[in-house]
Amino acid sequence: MRDLRILTDNHEKGIMASPPDEAQLLQMLLKLTGAKHTIEVGVFTGYSLLATALALPDDGKVIAIDTNPEYYELGRPFIEKAGVGHKVDFRAGLALQHLDELLADEANRGAFDFAFVDADKPSYVKYHEQLLRLVRVGGVIVYDNTLWDGTVALPPDAPMSDMDRRISAAVRDLNARLAGDGASRCASSPSQTASPSAAASCDH
Ligand SMILES: C[S@@+](CC[C@H](N)C(=O)[O-])C[C@H]1O[C@@H](n2cnc3c(N)ncnc32)[C@H](O)[C@@H]1O
Repeated sequence: MRDLRILTDNHEKGIMASPPDEAQLLQMLLKLTGAKHTIEVGVFTGYSLLATALALPDDGKVIAIDTNPEYYELGRPFIEKAGVGHKVDFRAGLALQHLDELLADEANRGAFDFAFVDADKPSYVKYHEQLLRLVRVGGVIVYDNTLWDGTVALPPDAPMSDMDRRISAAVRDLNARLAGDGASRCASSPSQTASPSAAASCDH
């Protein structure tokens, strides 16, 4: 984990990686839920993926989706070196498409214990609808950046970039969707980047 952290921190987009305390939270949730089959949407160099693979049992599997396989290739040697490469099923491409492909096979519905979403925020609500069908009752879905640096709490006319405004609106939509779902339990957890994750445990 340390070596991959160093590589990632030196990457020009290293800010995208989850911080170590978030990786530890993911590992704790994976262990607590006894997760074996998981999905990760948004891999980058694989820091949260390596944390996930290390927390899974030896016969566990994480389907890891990212549009950019070049990022994943940077981290793959570290995942192999850690001896957990056999637990990773990397799929290159758009996550909405890959999740739809999983859903097309009835055997995948409710077959996953856990999912971690850390990719394009405007698709989060759509990912949630897909993941609710893929993750089992009592499973856990974790979303990164659910406060988007606090912007979700700012008034509508607060100054911010167009990108932040667009992402903040998308994250607010997800939060409203989660908060309004009586069949799921939600919790928000701050992390080192002050950009918390929300975990939704699905009861349906
Ligand atoms: C914040 S980074 C992921 C960080 C990673 N989870 C970690 O903790 O190190 C977001 C990643 O999502 C990927 N991504 C963006 N849009 C995507 C999409 N529509 N489908 C799949 N991956 C996407 C990007 O290529 C990028 O690698």
